[in-house]
Amino acid sequence: MAQPQSDPVVALSNVRKTYDLGGVVEALADVSLTLDRGSYAAVMGPSGSGKSTLLNLVGGLDTPTEGAVTVGGRDLSTATESERATVRGSDVGFVFQTFNLMPRLTAVENVALPLVFDGWSRTDRRERARELLADVGLTDRTDHRPSELSGGQRQRVAIARALAPTPQIILADEPTGNIDTETGDRIMDLLDDLHEAGNTILLVTHERHIAEHADRIVHVRDGVVERIETVTA
Ligand SMILES: Nc1ncnc2c1ncn2[C@@H]1O[C@H](COP(=O)(O)OP(=O)(O)OP(=O)(O)O)[C@@H](O)[C@H]1O
Ligand SMILES: [Mg+2]
Repeated sequence: MAQPQSDPVVALSNVRKTYDLGGVVEALADVSLTLDRGSYAAVMGPSGSGKSTLLNLVGGLDTPTEGAVTVGGRDLSTATESERATVRGSDVGFVFQTFNLMPRLTAVENVALPLVFDGWSRTDRRERARELLADVGLTDRTDHRPSELSGGQRQRVAIARALAPTPQIILADEPTGNIDTETGDRIMDLLDDLHEAGNTILLVTHERHIAEHADRIVHVRDGVVERIETVTA
């Protein structure tokens, strides 16, 4: 049988990211990393080491100060804002460290929202959103607003929303942070299923047992990749 070809869907090449707030903060110093299509990687590292910055660059939310970030063949470092918006809208699903749910919309409306930009009909959007909320165990909370949900329930709505447009690449920034073990396990089951289905997953976590769901653990420290560990089953 033929060996599987490596097929990088995400590539960071000598990426540096600084923030200038009077003094310069170097969030990423020099990061090179590739993710093959269908791969599952976890990013671990101390607080402030650049994990969220890395995810934000892959998700097209920000551009690098130096270096290239290629997602699905497009170099986001030279892309226009509208090209980056396309990547955000179709290629990547982003589960944020802070959930960014729309406070006035119900759970089902929040999950259905990204589908508006994808041209789905209202009925189809609602049906898809209800299915996803069922997948994350929220069948009985579809009409609640974020303020009427617990932190873990909000987290699950945010995950359902990220998955609504069936993105190829799923970026999750501490998806199991601040939630109970059972809910965390359910979220990891969902990510594992998506990996099985062929999606590419990049996950940030502080927890070793969560990181071990991935095939590789990328250890980041002070804005550089310290080492890449292969997870053995
Ligand atoms: N918008 C910003 N403006 C200025 N500095 C920033 C900005 N975003 C991040 N930083 C700084 O860049 C560094 C890396 O931040 P980042 O959010 O990537 O860390 P992290 O590894 O995700 O940490 P945590 O585990 O606490 O979430 C930090 O020192 C942070 O203060
Ligand atoms: Mg972070």
